Amino acid sequence: MKKKVLIYLITIIAFIMGLRIYFLLNVERIKGEENLVNNNIIEELKQAPQANFNFETKSVKLNSGYVMPLNGLGTYSLTGDTCYEAVSWALKSGVRLIDTAYMYGNEEEIGKAIRDSGIPREEIFVITKIYPSQYAKPKEAIELALKKLDIDYIDMMLLHHPGNLDVRAYKEMEKYVESGKIRSLGLSNWYIEELKEFLPQVSIIPALVQNEIHPYYQENDVIPFIQNLGIVVQGWYPFGGRGHTSELLNDETIVKIANNHHVSSAQVILRWNLQKGVVVIPGSSNPDHIKENTDIYGFSLSNDEMAEINALNRNEKHDWY
Ligand SMILES: NC(=O)c1ccc[n+]([C@@H]2O[C@H](COP(=O)([O-])OP(=O)(O)OC[C@H]3O[C@@H](n4cnc5c(N)ncnc54)[C@H](OP(=O)(O)O)[C@@H]3O)[C@@H](O)[C@H]2O)c1
Repeated sequence: MKKKVLIYLITIIAFIMGLRIYFLLNVERIKGEENLVNNNIIEELKQAPQANFNFETKSVKLNSGYVMPLNGLGTYSLTGDTCYEAVSWALKSGVRLIDTAYMYGNEEEIGKAIRDSGIPREEIFVITKIYPSQYAKPKEAIELALKKLDIDYIDMMLLHHPGNLDVRAYKEMEKYVESGKIRSLGLSNWYIEELKEFLPQVSIIPALVQNEIHPYYQENDVIPFIQNLGIVVQGWYPFGGRGHTSELLNDETIVKIANNHHVSSAQVILRWNLQKGVVVIPGSSNPDHIKENTDIYGFSLSNDEMAEINALNRNEKHDWY
């Protein structure tokens, strides 16, 4: 009797172990196949032409076929009349790229400033973003942005952060590209691993990735990775973000280079970004600053000066995402 029970137990244990080995092998095989698909897409994209900055037209042609200015106005923390006036002033100063987001709570003011400007709609490029809290109901989120902006169509919509249901939200945005209500798509706060996972799951390759980039946080591995896929990189917090700007703008190296060119530290930082192939969207509500931030095409940084600024990298992120 004892022997029978023993044989019975051994058979069960062997069966469970067999199942476990089969399961593990299968998971590895599926993972391997997924990696292959991921790598295939990444490898295919690497064959795509890189987007080239045109310093004459101050614009770049995106993989979506649309043309986007190389410098714009960021509107984080600008609300109400301050936002309306900053955008109006920027448009008067020649700025044609405006970055906003559901989260900034200022899409209505931006839409109004654009409509009131009298500038033909097609000359202005508007980026907005939907937030992870909206990903469960992406259609509502997109309709809300269209309604608040009220400028006929949105030039580019980004997912603000990776999050639950981000792929589903992106797929809804793809439908709006088909209908022409959104022209180009992009991502924000997506890095190498997130991109490798995300790209195989969507049909429209993002035209742009917007991430934190400034001399103290340079993303030197991420930027070329994205650019090599034919996707344009745009930097947020070019001056380090509010609370950090004076440290960056008074950095000895940056001040020295600014003096060499008779320009401001802000202009040096923006120009450094452009020469790295990074589109800039500095935030400001000060008309003089807004104007100054557009005047970044009349000088260029030497290779040595670029290297000096590159050497300032501290991997010092100024926000959590
Ligand atoms: N995707 C994301 O998750 C994300 C996150 C953060 C930001 N963003 C975007 O990136 C944009 C840029 O970031 P940000 O606006 O937060 O920070 P920022 O551009 O690094 O810095 C803005 C600060 O710089 C000052 N400033 C601007 N131009 C200046 C100049 N020429 N000289 C001296 N000071 C100057 C502004 O003050 P004044 O108003 O006095 O000029 C403001 O205090 C945002 O507006 C937003 O559109 C995106």
